[in-house]
Amino acid sequence: GRPSYLEILGDKYPTDGITNLTPAILAKVPLRLHTRPSHPLNTLRGLIESHYSDFTHLSSLSPLVSPYKNFDELSFPQDHPGRAVTDSYYVNKDLMLRTHTSAHEVEVFRRGEDKWLLTADVYRRDEIDGSHYPIFHQMEGARIFPADASGMKEVAEDNARLRHRLAQAPIVIEDVPHVAPTNPAQATHDPAYAELVAENLKLSLNSLMLTLFGGPAGGVGGGDGAPLRVRWIEAYFPFTSPSFEVEVFFRGKWLEILGSGVVRQATLDTANVPNKIGWAFGLDERFISQFRDKEITTFQPYSKYPSCFKDVSFWTAQGLALHENDFCDVVRDVAGDLVEDVKKIDFFVHPKTNRTSLCYRINYRSMDRSLSNEEANEIQGQVVSRLKEQFGVEIR
Ligand code: PHE
Repeated sequence: GRPSYLEILGDKYPTDGITNLTPAILAKVPLRLHTRPSHPLNTLRGLIESHYSDFTHLSSLSPLVSPYKNFDELSFPQDHPGRAVTDSYYVNKDLMLRTHTSAHEVEVFRRGEDKWLLTADVYRRDEIDGSHYPIFHQMEGARIFPADASGMKEVAEDNARLRHRLAQAPIVIEDVPHVAPTNPAQATHDPAYAELVAENLKLSLNSLMLTLFGGPAGGVGGGDGAPLRVRWIEAYFPFTSPSFEVEVFFRGKWLEILGSGVVRQATLDTANVPNKIGWAFGLDERFISQFRDKEITTFQPYSKYPSCFKDVSFWTAQGLALHENDFCDVVRDVAGDLVEDVKKIDFFVHPKTNRTSLCYRINYRSMDRSLSNEEANEIQGQVVSRLKEQFGVEIR
């Protein structure tokens, strides 16, 4: 059965019927890689913090937040899929691991910060493969201005400065309108203010991209001399409008690296700064796993050691669906980081008994050594026992 409480970062929290946080994930919570001196994520944080040197820099907020903070305060609808226990990690019904750094927007704005960066570990339940890991890192950046003539003068001056920097630089930008019928300004905003602020967001981020990827001396880019290509795309987030995604052309591929937009006024009202207007972005680390301590290295998503494949076929318990993310968390919990990939290779429903049969293929592999077949069998045995105990499956 489940423990009556979980100990996280030195404190104890009661569990309940929706607790789904596993020991494998719990063990990673204290790591805080983005604050380790020699870790690439820390280097990346330093680069971005130096670019935004006049912003307040935050990097030690607890990953435990209420669902209210993670979702409701940011205008997520009640039926948003992200809230599901299959998609997020819950300690109990009132406490979860943040799924994004935006969960801290209201509290930071409420402190009176009007330009800030916040770096943090974030958690999402997902399938297991070479490009998905349940823990990753994000950096939230935000800037708000007085929603009046003085604030807009500040925006216009900053826009002129940034436009000047970008005009001299080797950067090619594919843009979309700042505001469009499909990506509207908010009803409570003066349309001219929304335009100026959205433009400031774009100029500010184009300038950051230049610092990170541009030119031969580009932070992590190690550019090839060709101009940097940045692409803006209309997007949707419950807590911004208009909203955008940004992609950068890096080593032959378009990489989606951030989401952004003009902050929903409801967020600023909740934060007690109703007379401000501004923007926010959330930069995802996944694009940048490829550089190490001040030096770009070739990204190795996969281990150079051999794979060991094991299949498990089973009938699910009568009337009980087994979500793929539940299966993956059992594997992750038993195998830790010795699992690289989980694939569903067979599925059918028996026409007479109506029972579901599933077969998963698990790829066991270590990043730093050769895994023996005996060791993989041992782990697989534990996976099978856990499936029987926790989900009542019948092995075929
Ligand atoms: N929090 C969003 C995500 O994780 C990104 C985002 C941040 C979008 C800030 C808009 C503004 O996908």
